Amino acid sequence: MPPGPEGLLAADRSSSYTVPVVPDAANPERKRAYVRAMFSAIARRYDLLNSLLSLGLHKRWKRYAVELATPPPGGLALDVCCGTGDLALLLKERLGPTGRAVGVDFAEPMVRLARQRGAGLPGVWFVQADAEALPFPQDSVDVAAVGFGVRNVARVERALEELWRVLKPGGRLVVLEFSAPRNRMFAALYDFYSYTVVPWLGRRLSRHPDAYLYLPTSIRSWPDQDAFADRLRQAGFVRVGYRNLLFGAVAVHVADKPGVLPQEPGLARANSVKTGPTGPREVRR
Ligand SMILES: C[S@@+](CC[C@H](N)C(=O)[O-])C[C@H]1O[C@@H](n2cnc3c(N)ncnc32)[C@H](O)[C@@H]1O
Repeated sequence: MPPGPEGLLAADRSSSYTVPVVPDAANPERKRAYVRAMFSAIARRYDLLNSLLSLGLHKRWKRYAVELATPPPGGLALDVCCGTGDLALLLKERLGPTGRAVGVDFAEPMVRLARQRGAGLPGVWFVQADAEALPFPQDSVDVAAVGFGVRNVARVERALEELWRVLKPGGRLVVLEFSAPRNRMFAALYDFYSYTVVPWLGRRLSRHPDAYLYLPTSIRSWPDQDAFADRLRQAGFVRVGYRNLLFGAVAVHVADKPGVLPQEPGLARANSVKTGPTGPREVRR
């Protein structure tokens, strides 16, 4: 059995709630084992809980992320940390009949469920692999999307390096992730919701003792919008920007690998992202 989070805990001083945090930087191997076992255990209930806890909003956020990704018709897109494959299936819709979408996840039960959903759909595959060692050649992918996954990766910098490596020059990375709410009133409500309702409902429905305590805890120890944008730049991405969703509780970051795709769609895509301010601390592209 992998260690439960109690073995990984430390106090989170950023919140008025006494909660644990997972020291990912300190112990990536333990985090990897814990995260994989946890998502494997909750896989069957994951979609139901996602829809209940986000009040169905996650579907809308994912559609928006795929819109920003602008997958080119006929291209190759990855959904990294795919879970049951929502983003891969949405990407495939945009890639058209000749496009290919591949979902990647290291939890076998998630990959199995994703394969069931994608069964019979040409041009969609799901593979069991680690985001820190993507089984794709360098410069081979047009678009990569990560939905609520990167926060769970044990060595985030390693995963960003891998995403950068597999993307074609001019290729686009879109990261949909929980972030830091920008509105104080909303932030207080959100704290209450995520440290009381989410663990309570999550424990009952997932039948996992702490998966839905790990959720708010990992969110609080994740960098905010601007800090994550900086990490993307440090990883070599350019034209980095983000859009806040739900007062910043969720953010979608967009970042391009430098260079221009053949026939210049990369440049056209990068310029087509809306740049209007949606929050006071938004990075402008
Ligand atoms: C919160 S779920 C998100 C699933 C899906 N993308 C969605 O938005 O519904 C996070 C997923 O990331 C996967 N994951 C975490 N670390 C990973 C890694 N290093 N490599 C591959 N998958 C990973 C987990 O197994 C889990 O399925």
